[in-house]
Amino acid sequence: YDHLTRSADQTLCLEGCALDQIAAEFGTPTYVYSRSAIERAYTELTTAFGDRPHRICYAVKANSNLAILALLARLGAGFDIVSGGELARVLKAGGAAEKIVFSGVGKTRDEIEQALRAGVGCLNVESEAELARISEVAAGLGVVAPISLRVNPDVDAKTHPYISTGLKDNKFGVPIEQAPALYRHIARDANLKAVGIDCHIGSQITDVSPFADAARRVLALLDTLVLEGIELAHLDLGGGLGIRYTDEQPPSAADWVDAVTSVIDRHPIARHLPLMLEPGKFLVGPSGVLLSRVEYLKPHPSDGKSFAIVDAAMNDLVRPALYGSVMAIEAVKPDPVMAAKDWEIVGPVCETGDFLGHGRSLALAQGDLIAVLGAGAYGFSMASNYNTRGRAAEVLVDERGATLIGARESVESLWALESIPPSLM
Ligand code: LLP
Repeated sequence: YDHLTRSADQTLCLEGCALDQIAAEFGTPTYVYSRSAIERAYTELTTAFGDRPHRICYAVKANSNLAILALLARLGAGFDIVSGGELARVLKAGGAAEKIVFSGVGKTRDEIEQALRAGVGCLNVESEAELARISEVAAGLGVVAPISLRVNPDVDAKTHPYISTGLKDNKFGVPIEQAPALYRHIARDANLKAVGIDCHIGSQITDVSPFADAARRVLALLDTLVLEGIELAHLDLGGGLGIRYTDEQPPSAADWVDAVTSVIDRHPIARHLPLMLEPGKFLVGPSGVLLSRVEYLKPHPSDGKSFAIVDAAMNDLVRPALYGSVMAIEAVKPDPVMAAKDWEIVGPVCETGDFLGHGRSLALAQGDLIAVLGAGAYGFSMASNYNTRGRAAEVLVDERGATLIGARESVESLWALESIPPSLM
């Protein structure tokens, strides 16, 4: 990551800001994001399309901080949302409703109503039952709902099973063979209008071939629809481009775009359709670090494991605990003389699964700062309050310096919605 550098005294800096200064000012644990890294990723992706019509719909779930959404909105991004809450966030941050696609298998009636009232660009529909509900809500509002069917292309994204979504045994999308019947159904329903086809095959994909396979399957469906006289206005191939956490070699943005456009642009009709992508991790993952301080060292007296207990935990960053993800961890100011040693980097939460990294060779002393790299996506957005831990602060760094974009949660706010009934007072 070129936004991560070391100063003359070896202090880790993010976009030129020394992380020990950030810790001194904002405390720990804190998520710190580089604005230029996000801008660079967005530009890299949009530039890869050249003048081909396209839209990048940022997957809000990756990092839904209002400042990050406002930044992406300014860059021209659309948004992929999966809840009424995410819709509200995008609108609050100044995102354009017509550039929103609404994904998700379980949209409630209220969420559908909220989306149709706001005028989102389309609803990515995942079942026949959902179509029926959208039709009813649209009829009630007197509007026509723009629909894209999310099809399940049954391709293996070769990623972690928890983040693989395009296999026929996953809950996502409609089976691709069922799609023509559903498009016919949409065509007959005056409250619905088909505008697109979409698919999303998974996350942290490090090989372009599953994307190309999915594109081919979507085109085969398009051919069937064309024969039936069904016209569409866009194709959406989802998100999922992987990033480098340690030694992965993910494709570049250009590789990703080339892999799909080289399939799509050979098709006489598809080549004229705007292409949408829904990247989350690629845009924000590399930009962020989770900054944390070593509370205690517990070296093993003989040959057992030695623990570095830090102030960030699985509630702050669940990826290692949930997927066994390996994320790089660096000392912010490595001691130049101390010998490195293998540490289990663990948090204070009362679970054996509470770890950020296993067996990391680092020179650590009590009070030192560490940074977990590549934590800009699915870090804060998956955080919880387990063990009554307030969520971490969030800071955005740009050439003007560091700005707090998310205050550390106070304990009072954690119980603000709770109450003790009179019988227990
Ligand atoms: N579109 C849809 C419909 C999605 O479900 C997702 C992610 C994306 C786009 C964005 O995928 P991305 O480009 O960020 O890979 N928590 C996991 C990733 C779960 C992704 C869920 N869906 C992780 O930390 O690796």
